[in-house]
Amino acid sequence: MIAEDDEAGQVWCEKNDFPGYTSYASLNDLEWRFPIFKEIVTELDTHVTNFSKDLEFDLGEKKIQLDSLWINILPFGGIHTAHIHPHSIISGTTYVAMPNGTSPLKFEDPRLGMMMAAPPRMKEAREEMSNFFYAWPKVGDVMLWESWLRHEVPMNMADEDRISISFNYSWN
Ligand SMILES: [Fe+2]
Repeated sequence: MIAEDDEAGQVWCEKNDFPGYTSYASLNDLEWRFPIFKEIVTELDTHVTNFSKDLEFDLGEKKIQLDSLWINILPFGGIHTAHIHPHSIISGTTYVAMPNGTSPLKFEDPRLGMMMAAPPRMKEAREEMSNFFYAWPKVGDVMLWESWLRHEVPMNMADEDRISISFNYSWN
């Protein structure tokens, strides 16, 4: 319903060759428009607070706060190429629809650019030694990571849409 009503968002996706739909560039007030997003933000705030404690961040006087929250609808054949989330410190995604056969969330070893002369890893190398890490989240899971960590969503090969809500937290 949100995607259908958001004409500005549809135009943006069309113009930017974005497969499916994202509200990223068009709606910045989901938690005010739709009460369920307010509930999601309350839950996310708790997870992010715990995560930042686990990261042992020394936040000083400043606080970690939600900066943006958006919807992603990735149809069959859709892909979200590797990227980071600038101007944020913690980013994440929670999952609404993960049809059978859909794509994982793929993280890239941040040292990759320094590994020019290093031999490749064995195919069956231990997970922590691999250059890429694949997470297979389930509906309702919340994935959190530091915003500098490059990640991507490989092609959705499921017939149904892969639907998620992503967010950025900043420190200010
Ligand atoms: Fe992302």
